[in-house]
Amino acid sequence: MDEISRHVVLTGGGSGIGREAAAQLLAAGHRLTVVCRDGATAERLRERLGGALATVIADLADLESVEAAAAALRKAGEPIDSLVLNAGLQYSGAKEPRWSAQGFELTFAVNHLAHQALLRRLLPLLLQGRAPRLVVTASEVHDPTTAGGKVGQPAGLGDLAGARRGPGAAMVDGGPFNAEKAYKDSKLCNVLMAREVERRLRRKGTPVPVIAWSPGLVIPRGPGGFFRDSQRHNPLGQAVFAFVARDLLRLTESPERAGALLAGLATTTPLEPGFHYWSNRVRGPGRLRFEEGEPSAEARSDVLAAELWELSARAAGLEADEGVV
Ligand SMILES: NC(=O)c1ccc[n+]([C@@H]2O[C@H](COP(=O)([O-])OP(=O)(O)OC[C@H]3O[C@@H](n4cnc5c(N)ncnc54)[C@H](OP(=O)(O)O)[C@@H]3O)[C@@H](O)[C@H]2O)c1
Repeated sequence: MDEISRHVVLTGGGSGIGREAAAQLLAAGHRLTVVCRDGATAERLRERLGGALATVIADLADLESVEAAAAALRKAGEPIDSLVLNAGLQYSGAKEPRWSAQGFELTFAVNHLAHQALLRRLLPLLLQGRAPRLVVTASEVHDPTTAGGKVGQPAGLGDLAGARRGPGAAMVDGGPFNAEKAYKDSKLCNVLMAREVERRLRRKGTPVPVIAWSPGLVIPRGPGGFFRDSQRHNPLGQAVFAFVARDLLRLTESPERAGALLAGLATTTPLEPGFHYWSNRVRGPGRLRFEEGEPSAEARSDVLAAELWELSARAAGLEADEGVV
């Protein structure tokens, strides 16, 4: 490895923004390990991206699978310079919740809980890395004051009644299931987790840059893409939404550029230790600006961040300070 090459571990590298970032990271000479859902996905990705790619298997809907992946990485023992928690799903339009292997609502389980578990298990390797940094892919919809965050029910974790209840709770706030809000809530959890781990690491005397970021709306052409699950529940509505947002109003970001933004945050963007929030904001048709800013008011709550951290640790079978000390 040369001086500027980094070891990047990435979730959600099998498609979309993560796959674009993966291709660009490899092309730039970084050493990349992608956490893939299963062996077939890993195989397809290795064929597509070439031999330098390393993969490890974790179905993020199963905490045991996450634990096994983290154990394999710890056993291999290679320090991690950039940990990028990017995988995510949504199934907007569904009337009924789906569940993870441990009985948590699927959006919360995959987007937040699995990443909390992976992060905690991999922190020792990250802290051994060179100028380590953590990147978490959130979304502007975590913020009810943004254009996307205003549509439908806003994000809000209430008093975390659902998180306290654990398996079987349809929503983190304990309310009735709403798939779209579940997604927004999970992205709010992403930002809160990023802020809390940064605070805990700083308090322990090992400050690192922690970046939560929002890629903007990314709707690739063709059948795949982030909205594929939502499409199943409302194909016509999703097709109209894609056409209007991407082609008519030109409010979307390309997967290639979103991948480049992610690759940059993981490796080259100059960052001081501390928490950072970056967002790819729409400034007008075909005009997006990637800039540092503030996450939502709720995402800035220290009390909520600490409480979510502890409840998530308990849900994932971790000690509150595991990995941080
Ligand atoms: N697209 C947007 O408009 C947009 C906007 C804001 C934020 N984001 C965020 O950006 C991130 C990447 O989204 P994207 O647009 O690139 O969507 P995508 O193409 O659907 O990619 C999502 C990735 O997450 C992985 N994933 C989902 N469930 C998994 C599981 N159970 N186990 C392991 N991996 C799993 C997928 O793996 P498979 O390939 O195996 O399915 C895929 O690699 C997400 O966190 C999303 O919330 C996206």
